[in-house]
Amino acid sequence: MTSKHDPAGLKLRLAAAQRLRAVLGGEHFSPLSEKDLANGRDRALANRLVTTALVRQGQIDAMLVELLEKGLPPRSGTFEAVLRLSLAQLVFLPDIGAHSALFLAVEAVKRDPKARHLSGLMNAVLRRAQSNSARFGLMDDTLLIPEQFRAIWTKAYGAEAVESFAEALVEGAPLDLTLKDDEPELIAALGAQRLLHDSVRLLTRDRPVDALPFYAEGRWWVQDAASALPARLLAAAPGSAVLDLCAAPGGKTAQLLKAGYEVTALDNDASRLERLRANMTRLGYAPQVVLADAANYEPAQAFAGIVLDAPCSATGTFRRHPEVLWRRQPADIAGRARLQQALLTNALRCLAPGGSLVYCVCSLEPEEGEAQVDWALAALPGLELDPVRAEELPGLEQAVTSRGLVRTHPGMAPGGVAGGMDGFFVARFRRAE
Ligand SMILES: C[S@@+](CC[C@H](N)C(=O)[O-])C[C@H]1O[C@@H](n2cnc3c(N)ncnc32)[C@H](O)[C@@H]1O
Repeated sequence: MTSKHDPAGLKLRLAAAQRLRAVLGGEHFSPLSEKDLANGRDRALANRLVTTALVRQGQIDAMLVELLEKGLPPRSGTFEAVLRLSLAQLVFLPDIGAHSALFLAVEAVKRDPKARHLSGLMNAVLRRAQSNSARFGLMDDTLLIPEQFRAIWTKAYGAEAVESFAEALVEGAPLDLTLKDDEPELIAALGAQRLLHDSVRLLTRDRPVDALPFYAEGRWWVQDAASALPARLLAAAPGSAVLDLCAAPGGKTAQLLKAGYEVTALDNDASRLERLRANMTRLGYAPQVVLADAANYEPAQAFAGIVLDAPCSATGTFRRHPEVLWRRQPADIAGRARLQQALLTNALRCLAPGGSLVYCVCSLEPEEGEAQVDWALAALPGLELDPVRAEELPGLEQAVTSRGLVRTHPGMAPGGVAGGMDGFFVARFRRAE
């Protein structure tokens, strides 16, 4: 029920502001769920506001510089989050209505004891923003991607690709699934389009994942088309024992089980392993599950194949997690690159002679991809590159480099289908006999 004290739309704005504030404070972005906002329409609108504020962060930063002469007031509770949401609405979501952006922003800060004294400033700033909204709406798209990534990616992938990344960021990621049962009726029931192999893309996203057909029956799992490539490239003998070294929540584990391997799924995060267990139960799979540190795990017997989906900067997932663009510093990337080297070193110890090792990261940073291959070949005796051939990835041949490495990015069209794919890097090695 709405009243003068609880105007319609305020609850969703407060929930959205709380989520945005948490992400700006360092949390990983995840959309609001039913627990946060029971009403589906409110939830969809709140998620749209938060996502737009994150996607447009670079442009909103520039607006804030212009609008707040003294900068953001310190220790001001939800003020910044509410302001960013309202700017996102005023400038980029005009269909929602300017009046509600102003009115609800002022009401929202009035409810926060730490920001209440700033309700006048909120009103004044948003009025100025409103009169400049047409100009702000034409703001330079190069602001969408921070300069440090723009420079690295332009060098690695070219200016045209980076332009397509900015478009992909604004567009957002479609929902891709990997099918357990690759049947045309299932694809039709899902309203999906085939991408590559057993990856399909939903043509519309009108319901939550667990409300899609055959979710409970475990006939598919969510997995971006790029993320589905590495496990397919493992070249171990059919039916052999393989190790998924950083396995949770289990997308690649499920693929390895579907391919008929005997799978050990290892991760060092107990709660993520719980998610993996639940996912495997839904899918009717039963891997061996191990809680251990991949940097020093010692198996009783070496494996014929290993997939190492290493922890990384995750910059290749920026369409779903725009916050990674504003959070990652070169020093974090160097730290992760060192961890990846420790994991690669131990992966080789766990691999039987002649065994196949697939290394992958959901990162666009050459330091975590191509440079790690150079490092591994120089530093790990007995490890050889097993080049991927373009014909192994029909429909995505352009992702295979002249060295036989795989590099995808959001400007690529898997199987010729629009909508992009995550940035991923994959290298396949073999341990010498
Ligand atoms: C990119 S995610 C893996 C995604 C998973 N392979 C999939 O396809 O669903 C990386 C995983 O590495 C795990 N991880 C990070 N450091 C680790 C370590 N030292 N040992 C084992 N697992 C680790 C994290 O808990 C996380 O689940």
